[in-house]
Amino acid sequence: MNKTLLAVLTALALTACGQQQAAAPAEQPAPAAQEVAPVEQAAAPAAEQQPAAEVDHVKARQDAFKQVGEAMKTIGDVVKGDVAYDAEQFKAVVAQMQDAGAEAFQHFGEDTQGGNAKADIWTNMAKFEEGRDKMAAAVAALNEAAQTNDLNAIKPKMGDLGGSCKSCHDAFKEKTN
Ligand code: HEC
Repeated sequence: MNKTLLAVLTALALTACGQQQAAAPAEQPAPAAQEVAPVEQAAAPAAEQQPAAEVDHVKARQDAFKQVGEAMKTIGDVVKGDVAYDAEQFKAVVAQMQDAGAEAFQHFGEDTQGGNAKADIWTNMAKFEEGRDKMAAAVAALNEAAQTNDLNAIKPKMGDLGGSCKSCHDAFKEKTN
């Protein structure tokens, strides 16, 4: 290191010392504001947990199906272009549908007849479960497509999904309107 440079560095160091208090820079920049998800798409609350003995299976599955229905509506609105496609939000909604669907099908055990579920479910459980598996496969395919962050990969998955709802409802759900 040559003398001139040393002198300059020393001078700088002294200056810095003398000015330390006045010139103390703000330590850390304020954290960037987190991106806030629009409120209307906030996650639906998880189905309430109840003690096992008191589970109202009809209500529990209806509540879960309501969430499936809401997720379906959001997904449909995005695919139609009525709501802007946000890849992360879309993935979250698909995941919600997956969870709510799994939850709903937990509540078709023995002696849980009622609601708008046709009694045929319990005499034809194999076919009902086939329908359940079709929906699960369609949601899984949609979920996989959602990971591409490409709406054009997502769109072709909608037919199977919608079809899985309809074919089961036609066979096993009372019409309610
Ligand atoms: C394997 C059968 C099956 C599949 C698949 C299925 N559902 Fe259902 N769903 C039912 C049955 C049965 C009911 C009636 C439950 C009851 O009232 O006890 C129901 C009820 C509903 C309800 C009404 C809930 C309420 O408010 O009472 C909605 C909404 C719904 N389903 C949406 C969907 C959507 C959307 C899909 C597809 C993504 C779907 N379901 C797939 C069998 C199915």
